[in-house]
Amino acid sequence: MLLDGKQVSQVVKTTLKTQTDELLQRGKRAPHLAAVLVGNDGASETYVANKVKSCAEIGFRSTLIRLDGDTSEQTLLEQIRILNMDEAIDGILVQLPLPKQISEQRIIEAISPAKDVDGFSPVSVGKLVQGLETFVPATPFGMMLLLEHYNIDTKGKHAVVIGRSNIVGRPMSILLSSNLPKGNCTVTICHSHTHNLAEICREADIIVAALGRPGFVTGDMVKEGAVVLDVGITRVKDDTAKSGFRLKGDVNFEEVSAKAAAITPVPGGVGPMTIVGLMKNTLDAYRRKLDT
Ligand code: GUN
Repeated sequence: MLLDGKQVSQVVKTTLKTQTDELLQRGKRAPHLAAVLVGNDGASETYVANKVKSCAEIGFRSTLIRLDGDTSEQTLLEQIRILNMDEAIDGILVQLPLPKQISEQRIIEAISPAKDVDGFSPVSVGKLVQGLETFVPATPFGMMLLLEHYNIDTKGKHAVVIGRSNIVGRPMSILLSSNLPKGNCTVTICHSHTHNLAEICREADIIVAALGRPGFVTGDMVKEGAVVLDVGITRVKDDTAKSGFRLKGDVNFEEVSAKAAAITPVPGGVGPMTIVGLMKNTLDAYRRKLDT
């Protein structure tokens, strides 16, 4: 079975649009997301453009703040302070990666936890670990929504997460092991120092591939009937494509789809679900603030 993130994300977006329309009918303002893009990295441009477009589709307001690639950390911190204080802004995201003169950690920590719709701040991560209400990072959030939509059985299953990044692998491992509707897994986190990675993967009922190496998970690493979520979106050169590249996942789709019970394609799997994770967080930030 194909886990069709493109289709599921449309369903969620339609629901979000209905909820936003209701707010407006009740005389409320729309939720408002501020996105900050520093420099002009090609992939970041695309991601931010998609976020802004999705806001418009749902009826959210969005403000895109573009800063030069040589912007200082001070200037960015000042921008964040302004957004933190702005009553009309509900969610703030600073697109990563940032240029090397800026400390990502200092920037993340400067965002008000109440507006941290990426869920990257230590406050948000701490709450996630303790099972408290918080903003769940968008990609893991989107994957949990996908598991819910397809009613994938997770309780007591062995989930193997490949990759321990703060954005995907680590928070996903926490969610899958938490006492949640699609949690309660036994979780193994694999990373660059893991021995016997292929053997560990073969024991997995659920595999989350989030290491950023195209085609890394091959057919021989996957148990018959496993559920496979592919987070990879590496750009590889493709002269037949109009853009000059195509997106490649961390999973060898051809090999693995022959064995998996369910698998996400790339593109059209996890990617579109990430956006709806962010949109849901933005609506939550708005609701928590305005108590509506
Ligand atoms: N860079 C890669 N993924 C993300 C994300 O989810 N949020 C932000 N802000 N930057 C990213």
